[in-house]
Amino acid sequence: MKLEGKVAIVTGTSPNIGGGIAGGLADEGAKVVCVDVVDDNATQCADWIKRRGGAALGITCDVTDEAQVEAMVARARDTYGGVDVLVNAAGILGGLSVLEMPLDRWNRQIAVNLTGTFLCTKHVARLMVEQKRRGSIIVIASTAAHQGQPGNIAYCTSKSGLLNFARAAAMDLVKHGIRVNSLTPTATDVTESHDRAVEWGRPRPERRARGLDFAKLVPTGQLPSPRHYAHAAVFLASDDAEMITGFDLRVDAGAIAKYWPWMPSS
Ligand SMILES: NC(=O)c1ccc[n+]([C@@H]2O[C@H](COP(=O)([O-])OP(=O)(O)OC[C@H]3O[C@@H](n4cnc5c(N)ncnc54)[C@H](O)[C@@H]3O)[C@@H](O)[C@H]2O)c1
Repeated sequence: MKLEGKVAIVTGTSPNIGGGIAGGLADEGAKVVCVDVVDDNATQCADWIKRRGGAALGITCDVTDEAQVEAMVARARDTYGGVDVLVNAAGILGGLSVLEMPLDRWNRQIAVNLTGTFLCTKHVARLMVEQKRRGSIIVIASTAAHQGQPGNIAYCTSKSGLLNFARAAAMDLVKHGIRVNSLTPTATDVTESHDRAVEWGRPRPERRARGLDFAKLVPTGQLPSPRHYAHAAVFLASDDAEMITGFDLRVDAGAIAKYWPWMPSS
């Protein structure tokens, strides 16, 4: 149990990546605060962790609203005594090209992906400093942070901003013994997320066809699942990573390392 006695906040706890990371941290002994703007994603994730024998609390919170974020962190502190780990996974995916993007949609995506991560990091880090906890903060990026994806202007912009947010916050917090790292997922196998939705009492989501066969385009020939991200998050959250800060850990099946013209499946 690598996180025994630790308290973790995870934002964006849908049955997909945030939920998978929340479950993975709980499996290693962390008490987990599941945070989402959608009430069911916060409460069903927490209930699922409790059914599996863990300790969890669901809190509904819009990460772009500073008062809500402060109240969420205060509730986590009042319930579990403090916070050791923050995983910023709340995000809005998908989008439009620079030609089509309406300003209000741009503003909302930047606010959730970038400002929400800033606000949660700010208030959790303040609590860690106050309590002298040598915490670990993880920012969920994307392979779209590293490359120019067409038709996804606000997502690519916000996610690449998060890479340097993590480095700069790491420098701000290093003197307090708080580490900040990013974790880069990529296109994700949906099987685990769909199974988790069913475990949470939801109907099995329909598999949507992707325009490209992503699994054939990554060097491993297989897309990662949320549990693979969870293993990496446990590592970054744990004392095993005590000398790692300002780093980006890519769990991307080799996608970013790939020589661009190489087609691994051919
Ligand atoms: N799915 C992928 O293939 C993929 C790939 C790379 C990176 N990521 C990143 O992983 C993270 C999780 O993605 P996912 O696929 O699980 O997406 P998802 O849409 O299933 O989950 C995102 C969650 O964030 C929540 N959220 C949105 N706005 C919020 C707000 N204002 N306050 C609080 N919560 C809010 C949503 O309600 C949702 O539960 C995101 O940051 C995403 O960018 C996903």
